[in-house]
Amino acid sequence: MVCIVTMSDDSQATGSHTDSPGESSQAWLELAPDYERARAREDSLDRLVEWPAQRELLGDVSGRSVLDVGCGNGGKLAELVRGGATASVGVDVSGNFLKASPPDLEFIQGDLCELDSVPRLAGRRFDRILFLQSFGYAKDPVRTLQAARAMLADDGFILLTKTQPIRYAVEQAEQNGTSLGEEYFSAEPFSYLSGWNDQITLTKRPYTISDLINVFSAAGLWIETATEPQLSEDAGRRYPHKQAWMNKYLGILIFKLRPHPSH
Ligand SMILES: C[S@@+](CC[C@H](N)C(=O)[O-])C[C@H]1O[C@@H](n2cnc3c(N)ncnc32)[C@H](O)[C@@H]1O
Repeated sequence: MVCIVTMSDDSQATGSHTDSPGESSQAWLELAPDYERARAREDSLDRLVEWPAQRELLGDVSGRSVLDVGCGNGGKLAELVRGGATASVGVDVSGNFLKASPPDLEFIQGDLCELDSVPRLAGRRFDRILFLQSFGYAKDPVRTLQAARAMLADDGFILLTKTQPIRYAVEQAEQNGTSLGEEYFSAEPFSYLSGWNDQITLTKRPYTISDLINVFSAAGLWIETATEPQLSEDAGRRYPHKQAWMNKYLGILIFKLRPHPSH
């Protein structure tokens, strides 16, 4: 069997058969090293598509403070700090952080569902706040985004990425013998084994593109830019299995969000 590891996943992770929030965080304590191993592969979609596109939208980070929410091991944030970002913080529930990190970078083991009550974040402001494939873990997505919005410095923005919901609809339609529309508009959570560790079940809450837009709006944010990054022609030729995956499942959505002045 060929196992194609992809990175476009921000589903709820559960230890096994339950999707209670505590179990979800617990599962990431186990899943984190497997995820980082997959991300480091030279043909991971994170390396080929997602991180380059995220990096481009962030632009010049010199002198900018960055908060990376659900930062994984913090490798992306460390790269931003090496690129000139200052006073930056990574938060992740797994606590599986890089051992050696540059000065100007701090890691906090914490829950993005409680961003507004993490003591070491109290009173802090950031120029850039990132939710890179982590926003799906918010129990109350509007509350989490409102907490992030309150931590934005003047002229700051949020960069948020999310798996194309059509990917899940395609997978579920194939598995259940149903149609794309039935699955895309279904409200039923569904589960499947993680591609990073087949001992761990991932549970997803279905969402549509309009659900996402409405959450941004309810949190007082507007979309300055949205992108749907794709493989370059060269990368598609070098990694045809990844091109085939992208052709079927589309990849991720990236949103650059700014606070609405009237909120
Ligand atoms: C798909 S990984 C993305 C990691 C990283 N942002 C990246 O782009 O490579 C999802 C991350 O969200 C973290 N996570 C899951 N639930 C969380 C929670 N409740 N609070 C904080 N982080 C969480 C996981 O530990 C994991 O590192």
